[in-house]
Amino acid sequence: MLSEAYKATLPLQGTDVAARWDSLYTFLILLSAFFFVLVIGAMIVFAIKYREKPGIRTKYITGSHTLEAVWIVIPTILLMVIFGWGYSVYRDMVHAPTDAYEVRVIGKQWLWQFQYPNGKSTINELYVPANKPVKLIMTAQDVLHSMFIPNFRVKQDLVPGMYTSLWFEATVPGRHQIFCAEYCGTTHSGMLAQLIALDEKQWSDWERGKDVGKIPRADGRPDSVASGAGGAVGSVSGLAARGKGVFEAKGCAACHSVDGSPKVGPTLKGVYGHEVLLADGSKVTADDNYIRESIENPEAKKVKGFENMVMPPFKGLISEEDLNALIAYIQSLK
Ligand code: CUA
Repeated sequence: MLSEAYKATLPLQGTDVAARWDSLYTFLILLSAFFFVLVIGAMIVFAIKYREKPGIRTKYITGSHTLEAVWIVIPTILLMVIFGWGYSVYRDMVHAPTDAYEVRVIGKQWLWQFQYPNGKSTINELYVPANKPVKLIMTAQDVLHSMFIPNFRVKQDLVPGMYTSLWFEATVPGRHQIFCAEYCGTTHSGMLAQLIALDEKQWSDWERGKDVGKIPRADGRPDSVASGAGGAVGSVSGLAARGKGVFEAKGCAACHSVDGSPKVGPTLKGVYGHEVLLADGSKVTADDNYIRESIENPEAKKVKGFENMVMPPFKGLISEEDLNALIAYIQSLK
């Protein structure tokens, strides 16, 4: 219904609801533009036409029932159309079908954790089947967060101590960007995730634990480079390169820099193989086991100066292969 050129200015329409939302939004913009031109145009024309002229007195106007009826009836009809249309889109947006695939979501400073019915758990990557309704049941561990998926035109707050939900049916397979849309602290802007909508075959592969590989962006655009990785990173290859991918995908980059600059957490540059001063005054060498422990159970040995840093334990959330790659990447940060 909307022209392709106009659609290109909007985020991808990743659901049917998104397309209906866009139509309503466009209608509101055009309606506002029409009345803006009408009112401001009339104002300018009348200001010129009826300006004060010597010798001419203004007519005494008593009113017009016809005019009054027109400016009551027409706006009423327009507002009722907007209400009805808006209600219909909103209703379908908030009422999830009862057979939706359910994923539980936890928002925490500053990452997204997803729990699936089959017991799987992922961080910052939400895997869902395309062309099937999916319902997210969400809560927050610490402060308010907000799940925002621009391609689907849906947004819902995550509130500590209660559950909120959101649903969608992705019609375009591929990766869709997820943002946190509620200011939740220092690294709010780094609280990013990817929604990965899989086609039927990929989905059954993923459910059976098979690697589905790198899924391209749904809108066909190239990946932006090293988003949020905190400065230039030397070129890495092999295992370390895979580790760099894990580092970015799991949200590590939100709190740890790799160029020596301080962030919420300690920088990882030059850590590997060197002594680390802990909060209790003791020292430990950052070898493979220390790094693994700090990823899986960050509370075990807190670094001096970062006692108050809250990092979620990644135990069971990162595969052995990814852990090895991650450590190799940290090793490469000399
Ligand atoms: Cu979480 Cu902003």
